Amino acid sequence: MGATPSALGAPVERREGRAKVTGAAKYATEYMPPGRVYAWPVPATVARGTVVSLDTSAALALPGVLAVLTPDSAPRLADADDPTLAVLQDSRVPHHGWPVALAVAETLETARAAAGAVRVRYASEPHDVTLRVDHPRAYHPEEVNGGHPGERRQGDPEGAFADAAVRVDVSYAVPPLHNHPMEPHGATALWRDDELTVFDSSQGGDTVRATLAKLFALPEERVSVVCEHVGGGFGSKGTPRPHVVLAALAARHTGRPVQLALPRRELTELVGHRAPTLHRVRLGARPDGILTSLIHEVTTHTSRVKEFVEQAAVPARVMYASGSSRTSHRAVALDVPTPSWMRAPGETPGMYALESAVDELACALGMDPIELRVANEPPAEPDSGRPFSSRHLVECLREGAARFGWDGRDPRPGVRRSGPWLTGTGVAAATYPVLVSPSRATVSAHPDGLYVVRLNATDIGTGARTVLAQIAAQALGVRVDSVRTEIGVTGLPGAPLAGGSAGTASWGWAVHEACRSMASQLAERSGPLPPGGLTASADTAGTADAESPYARHAFGAHFAEAAVDTDTGEVRVRRLLGVYAAGRILNARTARSQFIGGMVMGLGMALTEGGSVDPASGAFIGSDLAGYHVPGHADVPAIEAHWIDEEDPHLNPMGSKGIGEIGIVGTAAAIGNAVHHATGVRFRELPLTPDRVH
Ligand code: MOS
Repeated sequence: MGATPSALGAPVERREGRAKVTGAAKYATEYMPPGRVYAWPVPATVARGTVVSLDTSAALALPGVLAVLTPDSAPRLADADDPTLAVLQDSRVPHHGWPVALAVAETLETARAAAGAVRVRYASEPHDVTLRVDHPRAYHPEEVNGGHPGERRQGDPEGAFADAAVRVDVSYAVPPLHNHPMEPHGATALWRDDELTVFDSSQGGDTVRATLAKLFALPEERVSVVCEHVGGGFGSKGTPRPHVVLAALAARHTGRPVQLALPRRELTELVGHRAPTLHRVRLGARPDGILTSLIHEVTTHTSRVKEFVEQAAVPARVMYASGSSRTSHRAVALDVPTPSWMRAPGETPGMYALESAVDELACALGMDPIELRVANEPPAEPDSGRPFSSRHLVECLREGAARFGWDGRDPRPGVRRSGPWLTGTGVAAATYPVLVSPSRATVSAHPDGLYVVRLNATDIGTGARTVLAQIAAQALGVRVDSVRTEIGVTGLPGAPLAGGSAGTASWGWAVHEACRSMASQLAERSGPLPPGGLTASADTAGTADAESPYARHAFGAHFAEAAVDTDTGEVRVRRLLGVYAAGRILNARTARSQFIGGMVMGLGMALTEGGSVDPASGAFIGSDLAGYHVPGHADVPAIEAHWIDEEDPHLNPMGSKGIGEIGIVGTAAAIGNAVHHATGVRFRELPLTPDRVH
C-alpha cells in the first residue's frame, strides 16, 4: 500500500460532471412519480397582521385544480416549534411573502393561475422593517450565531482609543443579501400509507428527515429524504425550508405526489437572507502602526418570530493583536422574514468592515496595508489566548503580493488615470473557522475489487462524491476509480449537512476511519473475500471548537485591481487574486472552484448585490435576478486562486481545513480598498453601484 495515482490532492474531475452537463442528473423537482401534481403558494401581501378571509371559489372553479390549502383546510402539524416552518397552521402573517394558502393543480400553469385567483383579505397592523443604529428597540443579545458571546471586552478600549496617536472611527453598511442558488428551492413529496418520501433541494437530508418526522408525528424510519443532486445553497438550504413542508402537506391533503418549485422571486422572503449589518469600527494605533485599541460594534436585524443574529463582530476576535478591544452586537427584531445563513455568515460582513477600516488606518498612518497587518500579527488568538493550530496569514499576504505585483505600488490614491478611468489596487485578509461535526460512514470491499463508501453526505455542487472517493482511496491504498461513493439519501449512515465549510472534514474523517479499519481487516485476511464482501464502519465525533486547545482557522489574502469610470461611476474589477492557507488541499480542481466561486460572490457583494426592504409594504424588492444582479460572465475578470502548503496536525486525519466559504470573506473589502486607491474617495456603503460612486 502507499501513494497511488489520483490520491489526495490530485485534480480529479467531478464524477457526476457528465451527468450534470447532459441533464441526466436529477434534481428535486425532476422526479416524476406517477400522478404527480403541482403546488404554487399564495404569498402574503402585508408585512404584519392576520388573514381575515380567504375566498378560494374562483381558484377552485378553474379546471384541473385539486385543492387550495388554507389554515382551515391544511393538515395539522404535530410540532410547530420552528415558526418559520409552521405553514398554513393559523391566520397570523409574520412578514410579507409568508404563504397564506397553497394551490394544487394538475399542471404547473393551472396551479399558478389558481394561486393568483385566491382572494385574501387582511387585517393589517403597523409594521417596522427599517434598521437604524439608533433604533429604540435595539438590544444586546447575550449570544450570537455560532454560540459566540454577544460582547467581548479586553482592557480599556475606549480609553486607549482616546489616547491613541492615530485614530480611525468609521461606519460601514452592508445591505441584506440573497443566496440565489442556481437551483431554486423545490421538493417533490409523496405518501404511501404512513410513509413519507421527499426529494428535496437541501444541504443535508438527515435534518430534513428529523424535522419532517417531528412535524408529521412519524418515526424517522418512515420518512425518506433524497437529495441526490443539489444546485447550490450557500446556506439557504442548510436547514429545512417551508417549501418541503408545504409539499408534504399538499401531498397528504390530496393523496397525490406533489411537486413544489419555489418561484425565484419568492426565495427572498421564504428561505432566509443575510441580515443587513451596520458597523462602527474604531482603531487606535501608535505611529509605528501597532494597534492599541480595536472596537467593532455591529447592529443587525432579526425577525419578530425567531432570533438569528449575524455574528459579524466575531472575526475581529481572531485577526489582530491589540492592547485592548471590544466587539459587540446589537439586534433589532423587525417585521421581516427571519434572516439565515449565507456563505461565511458573520465573517463576510464583519471582515468587509474590519478590513476596510484597517486599510483606512494604513492610509492615516502612511503605512503599507500589508506591513500594517504583518505588524499586528498576534502570537495567539487575541480573544481566547489559545495558540493557533496553524496560521499562515503573513505567508498568504507575501505570496499574494509577489504574484499580484504589489511591490513598488504607488500608495497615492487617485493618480492613475487613463481617459475617464481611474485605477487602483487593494488588499484584504480573510479568515474562516475550522468546524467539524460527528459523522458515520461504512465501506465495503467486494471480490471484484470494488470498494463502496456509503454515508448521507450531500453534494451541493462541490464535488463531494469525488473528494470522498479520494480520501477513501488514500486510506485504503487503492486507485480512486476502484472506489464508488453512495451519498444523498437518508438511510445511509448518518452524516451532517454540507455547511460551515465542514462537510468534507466531517464526512472525510469517518470515511478515512472506516477505510483504515477495512485496510487492517484486509491485511489480516488471506484467501478470497466472501461473495457479499466485507464491511467496515466508523462513527467519528468531530471536535467542537470549545473542546480544542487550539484556535483553528483558515486564513487568506485577497488582492483586487479596480477601474472606476469617473463619468458614470461604474466600477469594473480587472483582476482578483486570492492566496489561501487552508490546511491540506484535497482536490486541486474542486478546491480552486470553491475559492473562485467565493470570490465571484464577493465581487457581487462589492459591486451589485443589495437586497432592500420597501418600508411601505415590508416587501423585499428587486427579488429576481433582474432586480438583484449577481455577477455575470462579463462582470468577472481574470481570477486566480492559489494556496500554500500547510501542514496542521491538529485538524483531522486528512489535515484539511474548510474551503467553501473563505473565498468570499475578504473579497469585497479588497475591492473597496482598490476603489479608494483608484479614486481617493472612501465609499462605506455596499454595493458600489454607479449611483453611489460618482
Ligand atoms: Mo454555509 S452559510 O455554512 O451553508
